[in-house]
Order: sequence, then C-alpha cells, then structure tokens
Amino acid sequence: TGYITLDPGFKNTGSTSSAITFLDGEKGILRYRGYPIEQLAEKASFMEVAYLLIYGELPQAHELENFHNSITKHTLVHEDMKQFFEAYPAQAHPMGILASMVCSLSTFYPESQDPNRGYEAIDLTIHRLLAKLPTLAAMSYKNAMRHPAMYPKNELGYCENFLHMMFGMPTEEYTPDPVVVDALNKLLILHADHEQNCSASTVRIVGSSQANLYASIAAGVSALWGPLHGGANQAVIEMLTKIQEDGGDLQKWVDKAKDKNDAFRLMGFGHRVYKNFDPRAKIIKKAADDVLDKLGIDDPILDIAKQLEKVALEDEYFVQRGLYPNVDFYSGIIYRALGIPTEMFTVMFALGRLPGWIAQWKEMVENGEPIGRPRQVYTGANERDYVPMSDRK
Ligand code: CMC
Repeated sequence: TGYITLDPGFKNTGSTSSAITFLDGEKGILRYRGYPIEQLAEKASFMEVAYLLIYGELPQAHELENFHNSITKHTLVHEDMKQFFEAYPAQAHPMGILASMVCSLSTFYPESQDPNRGYEAIDLTIHRLLAKLPTLAAMSYKNAMRHPAMYPKNELGYCENFLHMMFGMPTEEYTPDPVVVDALNKLLILHADHEQNCSASTVRIVGSSQANLYASIAAGVSALWGPLHGGANQAVIEMLTKIQEDGGDLQKWVDKAKDKNDAFRLMGFGHRVYKNFDPRAKIIKKAADDVLDKLGIDDPILDIAKQLEKVALEDEYFVQRGLYPNVDFYSGIIYRALGIPTEMFTVMFALGRLPGWIAQWKEMVENGEPIGRPRQVYTGANERDYVPMSDRK
C-alpha cells in the first residue's frame, strides 16, 4: 500500500490546483479571480461577483443582463415544495431545512443526475440554484413565523427580491431601505468564496463521485452549518448576548476561552489560514459601524464585541497564537440590524457562499479531477477469530 502521510484536518495538504480565489494568510490578502476583496465589496454587485467566480471574468453589461434575466426566470419553486415546509417541527433550524430543500431540488430536476449532460444543462442547474436558494430561505422564515409566503418579484434586484420575500406582506407594498440593500450586497460578496474551506472541499469531494450538483451543494450547506465554520455567526451573537446577560465581565470570558480544561472558545476568533488579520473582518467591522449609524441603531452588543476584541488582542494567549476576529465576528451584528433573525445568520452565509461552491464544483468537473478518496493509517485490532455470543466477556 506504500507510505501514507498523515495530516489531520489537512492543515498542510493541498487538495487541488485552483484559479478561483487567492488567499495569503500572513499578509491578509483575499482576491477573487485576481480582484481584491476590498474593491469588489466597495464597487461590485453580488450578481457581478457570482458571474466572476463562476465564469472567470467580470461580465460585460449584456452578459450581466442575460445572467440576471436567466436567474429571475427560475426564482419560483415547485408548488409541491410548500408541503415540505409544513412537515417540519415549528422550531426546525433553517439550515437543516435548507440542506434538505436543496437536495430535494434534484428530485424535481432529475436530468441533473446525468453526469454527461452538456454545458447548457449545467448552466441551467447553476441558474436554478442561484434563483431558488433565496426563495427557499425566505419560505422557511415565513413558515416559521406562520406568515404567508411571498412570491418572488422578478423586476427586483437579487438583494431587493430576497428582502421582499423575507419582510414583505401581501397586505402592503414593501420597499427596503437602500442602506439595508447595500449592506446585504456587501455581506454576500464578502462571503462568496474562500478557496478550499470545509464546505467548498465538501462540495468538491461529493461532486467528485459525480453526485449531482444539488446534492453536492446540499452537502456544502451541511458542512457550513457547524459552529467552527459558518455556524460561528449565530454562535457569536449568542455568546455576546450571554456575556451581556452575565454582567459584561469580558476578562472572565477571555480567561474561560484560554482555559484548556474548558471547551469554550471565543466564537468569531481565529482562522485556519489568517494568522495576522482577516481582511473581511476589517471591512465588516467598518460596515457594522456605518450601517448601524445610518439606520440610527444603537446596539449594546456592538460595544461588547469591540471591547471583547480589545481585551482579547491585549492578551498574550491570542497574540501568540495569531487569533484575530474573523469574518463572522461582526457579520451577525449587521444581520441583526437588518432584521434577520439569529438562527437565519448561517443561511445568509450560505446564500453568499453559493457562487463560490458552484465555481469550485465547476472547476473540479472541468479539470476532470479524480474521485476524492483520502487514505488512512490503521490503528485498530490485529486479526482475531470470531467469538460466539455465549463465549463473549
Ligand atoms: N478561542 C480560544 N482559543 C482558540 C480559538 C478561539 N476562538 N481558536 C483557536 N484557539 C487556540 C486553540 O485552542 C489552539 O491552542 P493550542 O495551540 O494551545 O492548542 C490554537 O489556538 C490553534 O487552534 P486550532 O484549533 O489548532 O486551529 P485550527 O486552524 O484548527 O482552527 C478555527 C481554526 C477557526 C476552527 C478555530 O480558530 C476556532 O474554533 N474558532 C472559533 C470558531 C469560529 O469563529 N469559526 C469561524 C471561522 S471563519 C469563517 C468560516 O470559516 O466559516
């Protein structure tokens, strides 16, 4: 069998060559297809960034129009899917619902299960996913609230349409605040790709077995759900709220995070690759200030977050280990300000990450990568004979 190199958590193992996202963890650099994240977050629309990630270049005006038009044609989901929502318990976590719904899409579009379908059919699946994820996410929120579901409105932009489906009511016209639309657009862009992270690697490895794209993306949603990955944005707000309710003694919580006998970690701190700073966190921290200011919101949780960052970064434990606030530390504070409920935060991350997952899957297919199949070092029992039940001790 040859010699196996062990690398738990793949800390040092490259799984692929990729031309999508460049990341330098020492210098805090993140670029999509060569474009700095700072410029994209400031100037681009989420649709443009989705196109860039998936097709490799920024779209020209007519390309963006065709892309957006095609997506808006597919925003409705099959009416039968409504019944799925009704079957979940009232407190069902929306990430559990989203993963199931995305996988269910493969049953409505069985042609997606043919690994040999052509480019056009693949594009159709890609556009369907981009179109239907916001609809499914908003449907799960409306169902949880026991409010009537709002149908998508195709004359709206991607972010406006999502906000309409989340916060609109059949009884009155809803127009989102442009500050809210801009903030959402920025957050989705910042989350859109992050090279071979846990969920992107999951999408690639599931897709490498030629499982269909819906099933591969559903696996990515499941991977993202974990609190060490995308689930951190929900965990951060829960942690900050707990600290507030506990009286706001930040040193106590920092000490708790340092205690090796305590499983508690500072949520929203640390990153596998960024050891100096997370460039997304820098942008989001500033955006949180801007958005709350513009919306006239005074959120005590933001003050706690800023103080916690200060206390932690003055502590040798965090400095020595290169533990800085990551993208999720401040994102939840903005989502809160936009009116998104805490348990939907990771769903928002999924909406943002979707083009990245699609781009990673497409690259894996186009590169003709082999099935992902890691090896192991066996540490179990040596050969032994079967013991009849009556002789077992
Ligand atoms: N609080 C306290 N200690 C920490 C933390 C933290 N948040 N993160 C890492 N450490 C310590 C860890 O205990 C270890 O200490 P030692 O060297 O004494 O054993 C050292 O720092 C290195 O940590 P690691 O767990 O070996 O690092 P990793 O690369 O395997 O994990 C991480 C990276 C992001 C999972 C981890 O930093 C973490 O659990 N952070 C909190 C959860 C979080 O915010 N996740 C979101 C990540 S960014 C968005 C995304 O990827 O979705």
